[in-house]
Order: sequence, then C-alpha cells, then structure tokens
Amino acid sequence: MTVKHFYETFHPGHYDLYIEVNREQKTIKGTTTITGEAIEDSIMVNQKYLTIASVTSEGQEVPFTVDDEKEAIKIDLGKTSKTEVEIKYSAPLTDTMMGIYPSYYTVDGVKKQIIGTQFETTSARQAFPCVDEPEAKATFSLALKYDEHEGETTIANMPEIKVEDGVHYFEKTVRMSSYLIAFAFGELQSKMTETKDGVKVGVFATKAHQAKELDFALDIAKRAIEFYEEFYQTKYPLPHSWQLALPDFSAGAMENWGLITYREAAILLDPDNATADQKAYVATVIAHELAHQWFGDLVTMKWWDDLWLNESFANMMEYVSVDALEPEWHVWDNTYQVSEVPAALNRDATDGVQSVHVEVEHPADIDSIFDSAIVYAKGSRMLVMVRALLGDDALRKGLKYYFDQHKFGNATGDDLWDALSTATDLDIGKIMHTWLDQPGYPVVSAKVDANGHLILTQKQFFAGEGKEVGRKWAIPLNANFVAPQIMSDRELDLGDYSDLRAKAGHALRLNVGNSSHFIVNYDETLMADIIAEVDDLKPVDQLQLLQDLGLLAQGNQISYAEIVPLLPKFADSDSNIVIGALFSAVASLRKFVTPDSDEEKNLKQFTDQLSSKQVERLGWEAKETDTADELQIRPTELSAALYAGNPAVIKAGHQIFVQNEADLIKIEASVRPYVLINEAKNYHSSELIERLVKEYQTAVDPYFKQDLMAAITSTQDKEDLKQIVDNFENNDIIKPQDLRSWYFSVLSNKQGEQLAWDWIRAEWAWLEKTIGGDMEFTSFITVTAKAFHTPARLEEFTTFFEPKIDQPGLGREIQMDTKVIATKADLVTKEQAVVNQKIKEAITK
Ligand code: BES
Ligand code: ZN
Repeated sequence: MTVKHFYETFHPGHYDLYIEVNREQKTIKGTTTITGEAIEDSIMVNQKYLTIASVTSEGQEVPFTVDDEKEAIKIDLGKTSKTEVEIKYSAPLTDTMMGIYPSYYTVDGVKKQIIGTQFETTSARQAFPCVDEPEAKATFSLALKYDEHEGETTIANMPEIKVEDGVHYFEKTVRMSSYLIAFAFGELQSKMTETKDGVKVGVFATKAHQAKELDFALDIAKRAIEFYEEFYQTKYPLPHSWQLALPDFSAGAMENWGLITYREAAILLDPDNATADQKAYVATVIAHELAHQWFGDLVTMKWWDDLWLNESFANMMEYVSVDALEPEWHVWDNTYQVSEVPAALNRDATDGVQSVHVEVEHPADIDSIFDSAIVYAKGSRMLVMVRALLGDDALRKGLKYYFDQHKFGNATGDDLWDALSTATDLDIGKIMHTWLDQPGYPVVSAKVDANGHLILTQKQFFAGEGKEVGRKWAIPLNANFVAPQIMSDRELDLGDYSDLRAKAGHALRLNVGNSSHFIVNYDETLMADIIAEVDDLKPVDQLQLLQDLGLLAQGNQISYAEIVPLLPKFADSDSNIVIGALFSAVASLRKFVTPDSDEEKNLKQFTDQLSSKQVERLGWEAKETDTADELQIRPTELSAALYAGNPAVIKAGHQIFVQNEADLIKIEASVRPYVLINEAKNYHSSELIERLVKEYQTAVDPYFKQDLMAAITSTQDKEDLKQIVDNFENNDIIKPQDLRSWYFSVLSNKQGEQLAWDWIRAEWAWLEKTIGGDMEFTSFITVTAKAFHTPARLEEFTTFFEPKIDQPGLGREIQMDTKVIATKADLVTKEQAVVNQKIKEAITK
C-alpha cells in the first residue's frame, strides 16, 4: 500500500514560529508562518491536538478543514504556486513527555518545572503546524515567549539573537527536519567549553544537582565532536552543541540539532562515585546523540522505513568513538558484546520479528520500529560487518562522499551503498540487502562428513518454533582457517578436515571476534576440539561460546543440560566479560527450578560453588590494587553469592550498610545496589523499606535512585509489595519515566509477580493514557514476556493481550512476546528434569 505523504502536496521552505507558553494556565498559543511551494491546489499540513483559529494565505483567509484522524489540516489554496501560509492556533500544555511539556523536580523542598520538547517521531505537529515528515526540510526562525521570571534560561537549536518585549528571538536554523526542533526554559545551571574549532559546547541541568555532575558529560561531548569532525571529515555545522538533562524524559536521549536532550541518568554522573559501567553508559549515550548530528541531522533518512540510517549508524558510532576517546575502557568487549550482541541475537531469533529495513506509515507503527534490539543492536551489527569488510579508511572515504552529496538533505539506504561503493570493489549493497531486508539470521552448522570433508551449511535460526522459508544470507565467515571471506550459498565444502586442522594448528572456529551476525553449531568432533583449547581463547571468544550455546539450547539444537557441566571451566576467569557471561548463563537456569524446591537449593549451591572463591578473594570493598576487570567482576560475583545465600557475604554486606547508615549514597557505587538489596532481603523491616522509599523520593542522583528502587522492589514482604504497587500511579513517588523499571522489578520478584501482573491488567487503560503513544509503551509488554515462562502465565498473557492485537503499534509486539513465553514454557517442560539432574551432578563433584 502506498500512502500519500503530505510533502507531495506542499514543500515548505521556511517557517517563522511564534510560540507562547503559559505554565500557570497550562496553555500554548502560536502563529506559524510557512513560505513554500504548493504542489497541489489543496495542501496538507500536520497538526495534532491543536485548535486552529485561522488560516490565511498572503493576507487572505482561506478555507480549511481539520482532520484529526489524519493529524492534519487540509488547506484549500485553489492554486499551485509559491506561497505564504499563516496559521494561528492554541493547544493545551500537557504532561505527556511529547511535544512541548513540563518536567518536574524539587529544590530545597520547592516544586519547580522546566519546559522542554520532544518531537521525534511525530510530535512537532503538537507544538506547531508543519509538514512533519523527515523529507520536508526547511529553515526555522523561532520566537518564544513565556511567563518568564528572573533567573530563567532560554535555549534552542540556535543562539538567541535578541529579547524584545519578553520575546526571545533565535537565529534562523540551517535546513533541517521538523522532528529535530527543540527549545527549553527554566532555572538552569550550566557548564561551558569550546572545541578546538570554536564550537561552543555546554551541559545544562536543573539546580537540584551538584555542579560537578555536569563535568563528565562536558568533557566527553567536546571530545566526541572533535572526533566526529575528524572521522567524518565534515565540520559540525552549528555554532553550539547544548546537552540538556531533563527530569522527565521518555526515551534515553534525543538528538535535536544543537540542543540534545537527555534523561538525567543518561548524562549526569558523580565523578567521585561512579562505576565503569555508568561512565561507559553516559559516554556512549552522548556519543550516540552526537553521531546523529551528522547521521540523522545533517543527512536524514528520506522516510522512516530507513530509520536504520539514523539509529543503526549512531549505535555503531557510539562504540567507534568512545573506543577512540577512551581505549582503556574496551567498550567493544565490555559493553557492545555484553549488551548489544545478545539483545540482537535473542530478539532476532523469534519468528515474526521485523527486518531492520521495514515499511511503515502509521505514526504508532513508526514509533514501534524503534526496537532497541533490531534497528539499534542488529542494525549496528550490520554496520560492524560493513566496517570489517571495508576497513576504516574506505569507510571514511565513502562517508565523506555521502555527506558531501546529501548534506542538508535526505538519503535512502541505497544512497549509502552507492557512496560506499566509491571506496570499495565489493558489491556492498548486494551483501547488505540480504541482512537489512530479511528478518532473522543464520546458524551455520559445521560438521565433518563421512568423507572427512568439513561442510558448512546455513539455515535460519529460530528460538522455539519458526517457519523455514528458505532465507539465505551473504555471511562474512571470519574463519581462523582457510575459507572464503563470504559464504552466500546454502552449503560450502571446505575440503579435507585433517588438512585444514593441520595447517591451522588450532581448533577451527568461525565468526572469530563475534563481529558477524550469526551463530555456529559445531559437530561433536569440532566442539570437543574447541573445548580442549578453551583456556587459550580470548575472553570475547569464551563469551561467544557461552552465548551461542545458550541460543542453540533455546533453538532445541542442543540441550541446556550440555551447558551445565561446562560452566565451572569459566569460574576462575579474570575477565569481567567471561564472568558476566557465566553468571548470565547460570541465571538462565533459574527458570528450570520452582521456588523453595530441592532443585532451587541445588542451583543455589551450584551458584555458590561457582562464586565462592572469587567472592572470598575480592570481598565487598574495592582496593587500590584492583584491576579494571576486578572492579567489575566484584559486583557480579556478589550478586551471585547473594542469590546463593552465602552467609559470610550477607553478613559483611550488612556491616557495610550499618557503617554507612547515615549516608547511604556514599557507599561505593559498584556495590551499593547489592548492599541495599541485601539489607532489604535479609535484614528486612517495614521501617527500612519505608525509609528507602522516602530516600528515593528526595534523592537527586539518578544512579542512587536506581539502586534504591532495586532494593525496595526486592523485599519479600507481600504487604510492602502491595504498597509499592499502590504507588505505581503516584507520580510524587514514581515518575512515569521510571515506571517500567519499577513494574519489571516487582514482576521479577516471585513474591510480587502476581501483584504486578494484576496491576497492569487492571490499569491498562490508565497506562495507555499516561504512557501510550510513546516509544516506551510497548516495552511494558516486552518486559512482561521477559518475566514469564510457565504455561499458565502464557494463557493469561494471551487472554489479555490477544484482543489488542489489531491496535496500531501493538500487533507485532504481542505476537512476538507470545512466542517468547511459549518457547520458554516448552523448554522448561521438556528440559526441566535433565537440567536439574545435571545441576545435581555438578554440585556433588
Ligand atoms: N532518536 C532517538 C530517540 C527517540 C527514539 C526519540 C524513539 C523518539 C522515538 C535517540 O537518538 C536514541 O536513540 N536514544 C536512545 C539512547 C541511545 C543511546 C541508544 C534511547 O532513547 O533509548
Ligand atoms: Zn538514536
């Protein structure tokens, strides 16, 4: 179905925006004047929730009709020509975290607000009438008035020119898409610096925060801009780059050109008490949004079907840039391989998943393609393959060409492949279409056949049920022995195995470095050979081995029981990512044991056995001599030991709590969540939970708040949990932006599961009203499926969600999540006995 885009009726060239916000009365009033070219006699301009007072063209009133379903105003100009259209309108100022909206916070007990904006994907139309499509690029001159008082700061995409009669006038923007417009005002503090080429860089936040929390972001932002100018060989084209932390923010961050907005946890850090993970997270978010200033803002996808041009690229560039700025952090291993890769491999294995490139029209469907596992994680994996095939020099040359060709304009995926083709002989477009246009990914089976030949076969991998439809991919093999660079056929005969093995001198492996998007199923001979050398493998290869085995088990290609005896091999590792992969494999066994059963006792004992040595060695307290890996291994081991119920660990954790009772935020950040969780679980009192809730309410540090949330929701007391769920809709305690985490945490607590599940079903209408229409909305369904793995829950899930399947934006999510639960439920039924048997054998050894 082709849907007509409004851009086909009208090409805006310039907007004069006059916007007046009244916080007191909660109203917006405005006049938008658009000069442009009418392509048809009747033009279509977007609006949503606006009350249109008048429409004039060149001074004359013109007939118009408002079509709320199409989120449009149809304006009858009667002729096609260059023209000027003026629209007067008003709108309510609402707390939806979309369009123009207030963010709430408290300083010294006084409630305050900052006004900010969030326009991607289709909410600019809630702030002013516009052709709200990425292709409709224009220049914008913003004039902004509000019920201003002394001491407020007003910022926007461009610098302010003047203030006249209380109206703030901003410089005309460069040619850009409407979804990237932004402004904000309120009582802000800021820190400023400049890049070596004179771009002003600033970080803004409310005055509730300590000034030092802005420093880390400022340093990263400045250096990231300098890095991108060099990498893309294209200058940052605006005079400033502001980073603004907003107390209420639906997504993680938003790349508005020149005024990037963030949720507080994604930008503010206490430099004196931050973990390596927090630093890496904040740095990668900033690097992501700054990558968009080129990929997304300077060159924008023509339509949302090519969203990956924005998001997949920004996602890869996060790691390219942070790795260049802070090589010691090893973000490719420590973050990319640990979070993006498994997210992509898991989600993309479910039948019914969308491809990275996907046709969309309806606004709710546009929001629904911002799937972090697909357009972000899988998409970045696609580009990591491109980068590996081309090399950085060719990639940069191609990108320079791409920016030169399309700057201040729009592009499609094929424009990118054309640009990269100027720098390589590979038919990169052809290879990449197999990955971008098809959902899923292959499992490559490697086996030695009856003639002693090594045979590779590719086939789509499914976790659980999946319909084989004959998909094939052009797979970069990355073999550690003689093999073609790309495998495009279904089957490949690599010749005599003994010869290959002898020449290589080591066990044969594919996808070395885990940089291609496929998994490998080795036959028994090949796997035994790898296991024999497992200690010599690099950490990332060990992590890959565990990840792939877990997936193969989900796909019924091996049994979970085969994984259990391998786990102790990794327990003594000194690599943080191996330990992480180990305990995430151990955690995946939890679904096989029923609470309070002997099996659970066994799993706890097994976990204790795997963690006790390291926990004893590392203890709760960080030491001067700790390596970077040790600092990150410690919390993973402690968390495992707490699950296992290790009495010494429980006691020592309690002591840290007692020592810091007066000032809990001071506890070293990497162990702080576990100190608090330990207390809430093992030294519980209702007063303690009450105190933690109070502390949560007044805490300003976003990471401390996360730790408190984790502790509060880990209580085993049903009464506490009931109270917590009662607070889900009390935004004085839980902000809507944080509700999903709260919900998921209570749902994942066996004592709270039923309460949370009852709540979401009873309050679905409220949730839809409060969070609906937002990218976060469907993720409430995703996390529900993440917590469930029994046939009974599957049935309840289907009963509740199936009737909603035709709702725009929800259908795919519901279908996929139903499958996710069904897969786990099947697996548990089938494998429970053998897995528990293996766990039992592993502990008696
Ligand atoms: N463009 C997105 C934010 C966005 C997504 C706005 C969907 C509206 C709808 C932004 O660049 C982004 O990707 N943010 C991520 C954080 C990032 C570091 C992965 C997010 O918000 O999760
Ligand atoms: Zn992004």
